[in-house]
Amino acid sequence: MKNYQDLDPDRLPKHVGIIMDGNGRWAKKRGLPRTMGHREGMKTLKEIVKLSAAWGIDVVSVYAFSTENWKRPLEEVNFLMKLMIEVMQKELRELHEAGVKVNILGDLSPLPDATRKAIEDGLELTKDNKKMVLNIAFNYGGRQEIIQAVKTVVEEGMPSDEITEEKLSSLMYTKDMPDLDLVIRTSGEMRISNFMLWQIAYAELYVTDVLWPDFRETEYAKAIKDYQHRGRRFGGI
Ligand code: IPE
Ligand code: IPE
Ligand code: MG
Repeated sequence: MKNYQDLDPDRLPKHVGIIMDGNGRWAKKRGLPRTMGHREGMKTLKEIVKLSAAWGIDVVSVYAFSTENWKRPLEEVNFLMKLMIEVMQKELRELHEAGVKVNILGDLSPLPDATRKAIEDGLELTKDNKKMVLNIAFNYGGRQEIIQAVKTVVEEGMPSDEITEEKLSSLMYTKDMPDLDLVIRTSGEMRISNFMLWQIAYAELYVTDVLWPDFRETEYAKAIKDYQHRGRRFGGI
């Protein structure tokens, strides 16, 4: 791992969100099936998570499967469900050793049993780790997350004057975590695609044309450096 001296350790984002996009196009460019792009993307994910932990970022949230991704061909959906099992059973060991605690954003109930079980085991394995939190957004939708928070409010019969930003934040999957500081989207699409709508309110956005499987250390450092030069005003002057 190279030592990026020019990253300012005092200006690191606390919470980075990543819309890992472009796996299909990466594969297509090489005449490979889309699934090979997802497999290569998994390697990128591992590298980016380990770098984040080493650099001292507190939370990384990655978008792995959206509530809209069920619209894809069954074969691809099945592949992604199996790939998640592989991540949890094989790849997680290395992240566990790096002190990463895994957390899921999303509704696990509609997932195939084997995928859900592998995720639950992965959560259990890493639950006491303290170095960094990795949120994997899986069967995740930003609107769906807000809806489930509102349902809780209604079910608890909460008086309307108790409904505050803090209260709603505490009902999101990210509960006690800070809001997003930086959101990175690979493959050039200028959209949010239903990713962490509540937590994104004041995030800095960084879009690169690089496809996710090619988004490695140098590209990631470039994104963080770009963030470190932004002037964040949060509505002030
Ligand atoms: C992102 O890559 C991964 C998932 C959505 C699971 P895509 O599969 O969307 O790749 P493109 O956008 O088709 O290239
Ligand atoms: C967003 O990518 C979801 C994930 C990266 C998991 P998509 O490829 O599904 O988004 P759209 O359809 O281009 O907006
Ligand atoms: Mg895509």
